[in-house]
Amino acid sequence: MNVTKIAVVGTGAMGSGIAQTAAVAGYQVAMTDVIPEAVERARAGIARSVEKLAAKGVITEAQKQAALGIKTAGDLEPVREVDMVIEAATENPDLKLRLFNDLDRIAPPHAILASNTSSISLTRIASATNRAEKVIGMHFFNPVPLMKLLEVIRALATSDDTLATAVEVGRKMGKEPVEAKDSPGFISNRILCPMINEAIFALQEGIGTVEAIDTVMRLGMNHPMGPLTLADMVGLDVVLFVMQVLHRDLGEDKYRPAPLLRKMVDAGYLGRKTGRGFYTYTD
Ligand code: CAA
Repeated sequence: MNVTKIAVVGTGAMGSGIAQTAAVAGYQVAMTDVIPEAVERARAGIARSVEKLAAKGVITEAQKQAALGIKTAGDLEPVREVDMVIEAATENPDLKLRLFNDLDRIAPPHAILASNTSSISLTRIASATNRAEKVIGMHFFNPVPLMKLLEVIRALATSDDTLATAVEVGRKMGKEPVEAKDSPGFISNRILCPMINEAIFALQEGIGTVEAIDTVMRLGMNHPMGPLTLADMVGLDVVLFVMQVLHRDLGEDKYRPAPLLRKMVDAGYLGRKTGRGFYTYTD
């Protein structure tokens, strides 16, 4: 299927990064969020990001202008005339099911409905629509303009054409698509979140300080960021949610969320987005 128009639903860090990358790749993009401040923050973030990328020669002036020209809305109106929707709303199953039900009613019949979910079953999301063959997971990574991976998740009824289109769109966006099964956490979060969770257990048990744990993984394993810095970037609420999904759906104790992780989420220490997580952020 030929995709020219994309709507991104949800303008947090992931949604705005996806919208920016799609616009830079030449798609006509609209992004929408029910929270007006989130749309404004996304606009400002995109402007800062493309300024940097253009100054470094990574993107052209025309690509920068395309990203600055992304249309915005506070409702699902833009979805009426697109070929693909990429949903990047809050990681809440009830919300996503309701949203996909709405998207199915509003989007044109030919449109693909993709979700950036990091852990919710795509088969379950597809069940909220009457176009299960056109529902697929397109899982991007933060920060989207820099990270090369696109994890593509095929739900039970996803068609070959939908899969091929998602892969093609991902490649045009400069990503390397990798197919994963619709299993809890897919490939990425089946591995990443237990590693972060184990780092939090190590901290809780006093095996090392926050800095020590991060330094070990940066310098000993050449990870670009330590696991606790990464947890702050991803959001501790997201890490907890993924661990709860793994624990519940795979039914093994090894996936139990660290009590310190639960406590920090209860306290509202969610990482960068709230200014406090394992580190404190002033910017
Ligand atoms: N747009 C444009 N430029 C950006 C940017 C953005 N969104 N984000 C960072 N940059 C720029 C920085 O400004 C910096 O530019 P200068 O060199 O000119 O100052 C440059 O990129 C490099 O950044 P840093 O110097 O801050 O640090 P770095 O070299 O470590 O690179 C990083 C940053 C790419 C984020 C790197 O640390 C990294 O790869 N970290 C791991 C990220 C990761 O694991 N992401 C996946 C998270 S999991 C997820 O998203 C999904 C899930 O389901 C949980």
